[in-house]
Amino acid sequence: MQTRGLNTTDIMFLKQLSLINFKNYSEFEAKFSDKINCFVGNNGMGKTNLLDAIYYLSFCKSFFNSADSQNIKHREEFFVLQGYFNSFDEEHEVYCGLKRNHKKVFKNNKKEYERLSEHIGRFPLVMISPNDADLINGSSELRRKFLDGIISQYNKFYLDKLISYNQVLKQRNALLKHFAETRTFDSETLEIWDEQLILHGNSILDIRREFLKQFIPLFNFYYNFISNSREDVALEYENSLGEKEFKTALLTSLPRDRAVQYTTVGAHKDDLEFVLNGFSLKKFASQGQQKSYLLALKLAQFEFIKEQKNTKPLLLLDDVYDKLDEERFTKLLELVSSDKFGQVFITDTHPERMNELFNQKQIEHRIFLVGEGSAVAL
Ligand SMILES: Nc1ncnc2c1ncn2[C@@H]1O[C@H](COP(=O)(O)OP(=O)(O)OP(=O)(O)O)[C@@H](O)[C@H]1O
Ligand SMILES: [Mg+2]
Repeated sequence: MQTRGLNTTDIMFLKQLSLINFKNYSEFEAKFSDKINCFVGNNGMGKTNLLDAIYYLSFCKSFFNSADSQNIKHREEFFVLQGYFNSFDEEHEVYCGLKRNHKKVFKNNKKEYERLSEHIGRFPLVMISPNDADLINGSSELRRKFLDGIISQYNKFYLDKLISYNQVLKQRNALLKHFAETRTFDSETLEIWDEQLILHGNSILDIRREFLKQFIPLFNFYYNFISNSREDVALEYENSLGEKEFKTALLTSLPRDRAVQYTTVGAHKDDLEFVLNGFSLKKFASQGQQKSYLLALKLAQFEFIKEQKNTKPLLLLDDVYDKLDEERFTKLLELVSSDKFGQVFITDTHPERMNELFNQKQIEHRIFLVGEGSAVAL
């Protein structure tokens, strides 16, 4: 992928955040550095909640809790989030208000959005959180979502293909079920759906492969940077078709598909394989190595969004210190402080650690001490 130099007007950052009744905050207001901001404090004080409020302003929803009203402070009736962004030298006041049992209201410079989708992507953001571990430990569906999520952000054709593929798949599965229930079989009708599935499925496969050709070098770069090239990592596409053409694979798997009444091969069954030093990352890698792998994946994703939006997304780093040794952590901070990255928000439970590190490296930063629903700039 080309990495075009971004000029100064491409900078986007959150200048100020105000909260009312959001999670454990009754009232909160802070002005941020356009580079590094650290939220430090003990467990349960509200560091992650601040990251979530920022995430909310970008994605119109919480990173953690999809039930909107559960983000209202307990026993309160509403929350208000306000973010003052600077984007391409323009000021944006982003407002989100939610009353219990009402629809949430989202505004940019006092103008309400008709659809939230108009807002999502305007202030791009990448969140790196302990939940990313689900990518390693969770089902293949999560890994496909990760892959599809990145590609469909810049490739509308791909998104259309995915939608069509899933529609055809649903029809094909319904037909297989119908055959089983009525003890019938009609190869001609099945073939109609197969043709469609193959058409969309092959496009999806081609685009995913093309994407990975660009993504993998970036991922390798970030992994090597963080780990000082100490391990050898690989990211591979696991194709459920094996070496077969889609058509042949569908024919071969037909007896099984009929027995289980759904389609067992195709793009909806493919996976990403995470490998470290030649072995499965999930089974054999240490926790720090797994964490480094996830960081490299998300940083490579950051790079893609940056290129596509022509702006550096906000980067939220939650609990990144956990499991990383001093050396890797320092490398990571060095990296995100560089010009490749824009504004960064980072949480830590040790107030001194961050300050020392950033002072040592002479990196501009602002530290906020978070204590039970309040935060003061140090
Ligand atoms: N809707 C809500 N109303 C009131 N408090 C809430 C709400 N949702 C979450 N909380 C509180 O927020 C606190 C957790 O905040 P948060 O996750 O930001 O902590 P943290 O500082 O990141 O801690 P850690 O260091 O353990 O990660 C908990 O005490 C939780 O009860
Ligand atoms: Mg936290």
